[in-house]
Amino acid sequence: MPYSKEVTERFYGVLNSPKQFAVGRFDPKDPNVATGMTGAPACGDVMKVQFKLDKDERIIDVKFKTYGCGSAIASSTMFVEMLKGRTIEEARLIKDKDIAKALDLPPIKIHCSVLAEASIKDAIRDWEQKHDKNNNKFSQTNEKRENT
Ligand code: FES
Repeated sequence: MPYSKEVTERFYGVLNSPKQFAVGRFDPKDPNVATGMTGAPACGDVMKVQFKLDKDERIIDVKFKTYGCGSAIASSTMFVEMLKGRTIEEARLIKDKDIAKALDLPPIKIHCSVLAEASIKDAIRDWEQKHDKNNNKFSQTNEKRENT
């Protein structure tokens, strides 16, 4: 199963210059930072995304850490591009199929982009909890985020 040119270039880009591709972390306790983390039970890969928002809830910066396959790493770099400049509500509309299409992922690798969408959704839940938009019902996942 060959990877597309898009996946290959992004994967090697991350390996060669991780900071340039937004590998890293923000302080998860920062009130302007949302953190999402998801694991894929099928393969054991883990993806963490963090975004920093301004007062208008617009995403001004994104970082990620991904332990996984080339498609998962490429999907992470793709959501960095897709998230920057968007509002929380716009970020909510990003779907795994958008990421898979942009990367030309083969059907056997679609779950890698599903992991990316799930991480974004988890970060949005973190944001809602931090800003008391969901009555703190996700407090257990927040402890997990702060310990990574
Ligand atoms: Fe696990 Fe790609 S094989 S995320």
